[in-house]
Amino acid sequence: MDEITIPRPDDWHLHLRDGAMLEGVLPFSARDFARAIIMPNLVPPVVTGADARAYRDRIMAALPEGLDFAPLMTLYLTEGTDPDDVARAHASGLVTAVKLYPAGATTNSHSGVRDLAKVMPVLEKMAAIGMPLCIHGEVTDPEVDIFDREARFIDTVLEPLRVRIPELKITLEHVTTSNGVDYVMTATDNLAASITTHHLMINRNAILAGGIKPHYYCLPVAKRESHRLALRKAATSGNPRFFLGTDSAPHVDPLKECACGCAGIFTAINTMACLAHVFEEENALDRLALFASRNGPAWYGMPVNDETMTLHRTTAPAAWPERIETGDGPVTVFDPMVPIHWEVV
Ligand code: DOR
Ligand code: ZN
Repeated sequence: MDEITIPRPDDWHLHLRDGAMLEGVLPFSARDFARAIIMPNLVPPVVTGADARAYRDRIMAALPEGLDFAPLMTLYLTEGTDPDDVARAHASGLVTAVKLYPAGATTNSHSGVRDLAKVMPVLEKMAAIGMPLCIHGEVTDPEVDIFDREARFIDTVLEPLRVRIPELKITLEHVTTSNGVDYVMTATDNLAASITTHHLMINRNAILAGGIKPHYYCLPVAKRESHRLALRKAATSGNPRFFLGTDSAPHVDPLKECACGCAGIFTAINTMACLAHVFEEENALDRLALFASRNGPAWYGMPVNDETMTLHRTTAPAAWPERIETGDGPVTVFDPMVPIHWEVV
């Protein structure tokens, strides 16, 4: 196959930031993706319906003319979140989901949840109205090894939560382990997972072997190879519980290339070409549309996009800029470390 046409894809987990960074990165996502779930971890975070409305307006104002893109807003769950505000924002169509960050788990998560008991009224309300909860699934206990934090979260937080509120629809975001894949596959109901492009392409060696490579550092951190292979199997299986969420998370280079670098990999530019490469390697190009274009909308109860995207094989390896310039500074683009012979037409 030298060319593949799929329904225009969506990105079910995206960081767009704000201000000059938003202006710098939005065109790349909007060029390829029709819709994206927009992460709320701004400083300060997007907590209320009013915050989400204002942020959506800023995104639409930054959207270059001629690009067709719908931001699907999320609210950042705090221990002070008002269940009625959440329900109103959902009923009005403004907000698609609520995001749970365990406090301290990742970038700008300090306003997140420390004690799940405190947010039960919000979660119960969401279950009642059919509003999905997107979860950053890592425990934050410093005693727990960073490579075990996802598996530990599933056992000690996610499973008890699902037992307590089985009607709550949960997206386990950016799943990175075979434990996560197995858990989602065997769950009976109301659970799905997004998978990033980079976790399908790199394992932890990319970060640590041959020198420390901050541009491959993200959270949850990439795991060992056996986990990457499990993720590939899940993503390319066509199983409706797995879909694309790029977690494209731009940081300016000085904040990555330093003694305490930020987590996040910027993949908005080359995600679709990289995915075509991965799916071809797995002999699953015919299932790329399920992962990138169909399973996500089915899970979120939305129509598949009418427009299409065509990718074709290139003779020379596809090329991207090494970094893009934004008004906030340079942002390095994800380097997949292998030649990619696909491009979006
Ligand atoms: O790598 C990451 N970057 N993981 C997250 O959970 C947050 C994100 C960010 O906002 O930079
Ligand atoms: Zn993220």
